[in-house]
Amino acid sequence: MVNIRNIEKSETKQVAHLEDMCFPENERASLKTIAYRVSQAPELQLGLFAPTEHTTTLIGHLMATRTSSESVTVDSMSKHEPKGKNVAIHSLSVHPAHRGRGYAKQLIKELQFRCETTVSPKPRIMTLLAHKPLISLYEEVGFKLIGESACKFGGDTWYDMVYEI
Ligand SMILES: CC(C)(COP(=O)(O)OP(=O)(O)OC[C@H]1O[C@@H](n2cnc3c(N)ncnc32)[C@H](O)[C@@H]1OP(=O)(O)O)[C@@H](O)C(=O)NCCC(=O)NCCS
Repeated sequence: MVNIRNIEKSETKQVAHLEDMCFPENERASLKTIAYRVSQAPELQLGLFAPTEHTTTLIGHLMATRTSSESVTVDSMSKHEPKGKNVAIHSLSVHPAHRGRGYAKQLIKELQFRCETTVSPKPRIMTLLAHKPLISLYEEVGFKLIGESACKFGGDTWYDMVYEI
């Protein structure tokens, strides 16, 4: 049975390792950025853990920050604005050996639930950048497609998506 909880400071290297496994170099978050997010916005960093014989292993994560922007910008990726009205999702990763079991959707739903119930102050919207093939994944968990993003992070074409809380 997998378990979702906030990522702890001591787990940032595991998160970086999973990022390396899941993203090309131009899209992955550095150890420094991960450590920043965990220290500044711990309530918005979720890890998905699977039980192993003596411990649990990180097999998925979702990282976000608060932002005053209505869409994800490169700036928001390494900057947490504690008073920002919105939440920007920056990374969603599931270990290749554990994909296709609904874990990505579980992570997003958990953050949506927390933003609706415990994250304070309650955010107004959640926003993310999607590659075209993943638009339907996010639509399945209630995000709406806004259109092609002005953000060209990593030199790629992205689509702005928004979830109203
Ligand atoms: C994208 C990713 C997080 C999906 O994880 P996952 O746990 O396999 O996703 P889920 O099992 O929750 O799948 C949810 C839906 O999305 C679809 N989906 C998942 N990955 C997909 C992909 N690469 N292309 C198209 N559709 C995909 C699934 O088919 C599923 O659809 P269904 O509900 O109709 O069956 C995982 O493939 C990954 O880590 N990829 C590399 C990093 C990445 O691209 N992250 C997203 C951008 S930040």
